[in-house]
Amino acid sequence: MSDYVETINLCRTFGKKKDLVKALDGVSISIKEGEIFGLLGPNGAGKTTLIKILTTLLLPTRGEAYVGGFNVVKEADKVRKIINLVSGGETPGYGILSVKENLWFFSQLYGLNSSVAKERSKRLMADLDFEQYANTRMSKLSTGYKQRMSLARGLLSDPKILFLDEPTLGLDVLTAKKLRNYVIDWAKQERKGTVLLTTHYMIEADEMCDRVAIISNGRILACDSPQVLKEDLRKTPIAKIEVSSVQTDFSFIEKVKGIIGYSETRNIQTGVTHLRVMVNDRKVFAEIESKLNEAELKVLAVNETEPTLEDVYIRLVGKGFEEAEEKAHA
Ligand SMILES: Nc1ncnc2c1ncn2[C@@H]1O[C@H](COP(=O)(O)OP(=O)(O)OP(=O)(O)O)[C@@H](O)[C@H]1O
Ligand SMILES: [Mg+2]
Repeated sequence: MSDYVETINLCRTFGKKKDLVKALDGVSISIKEGEIFGLLGPNGAGKTTLIKILTTLLLPTRGEAYVGGFNVVKEADKVRKIINLVSGGETPGYGILSVKENLWFFSQLYGLNSSVAKERSKRLMADLDFEQYANTRMSKLSTGYKQRMSLARGLLSDPKILFLDEPTLGLDVLTAKKLRNYVIDWAKQERKGTVLLTTHYMIEADEMCDRVAIISNGRILACDSPQVLKEDLRKTPIAKIEVSSVQTDFSFIEKVKGIIGYSETRNIQTGVTHLRVMVNDRKVFAEIESKLNEAELKVLAVNETEPTLEDVYIRLVGKGFEEAEEKAHA
């Protein structure tokens, strides 16, 4: 399989001198044909900037990028013919037009002939379960249905490569699952297309992506399959600690020496906080417990657990970030 999307030392800056922002700082990735590739990273990491460059909406400052073998700067027209972009949370078209009219309008922009346009629109509305809104003004649709319409618009042109920028932003659990499965079927069976998506939902990335890249401050910190990334963490002891309090400020835990990753989840209903800690040595768990005891907090359970993609992310982007960044650029 050939590299279908490739960037070579891609850089993009905004602003000048002391206001200079390095949105992308030497990004090199390659995505194979038929792959579903995820970009994960904190707000402002550079994900949308990368997608905008690859979809010819923004020029790079330095470096090169190829989509479907075409240079995104020199052959932008050729790139545009084989891609489409869906951004979550955006209104996909014109509010005063009905869903059907919007799809028709876009089909004409994409240059589809009328029978193909009608047939494809009908099928997408049926597949994505919003046929019942065909004649509804788009401004009246809820977020979830606007998002289905967005995806339908993105697939209408039958792209070879689909870019999805936070496609399930603000969707209910079942709608998000439906759209995810639809994209997986589209990429793996129906179209055998290539997908580059960004998401803040680790479970989504784990479920959908063949490979993910974790990006922070415009730099790629890790790039591999979710499986391999999790495997790499297997030697790191991780524990879930249940503490019987939801009001405590647990920030003192993060300061314990030997903690290399930390997150907490408070459950108001049960009055229990789950601390998730990654440590460089199992002995640190006892140290954490004694700190909690010193603070007169009741520890209900300490259980070691398997790494998740969220742990990989927290390890790289959260605590221990500087060390991880140094490693990535060593
Ligand atoms: N048009 C612009 N002008 C100036 N700065 C910009 C512009 N677009 C993006 N940036 C800056 O570039 C950096 C990367 O932004 P980008 O939108 O790519 O992040 P992101 O990873 O998509 O974040 P999010 O998860 O919040 O969507 C940020 O510091 C942002 O403020
Ligand atoms: Mg973004």
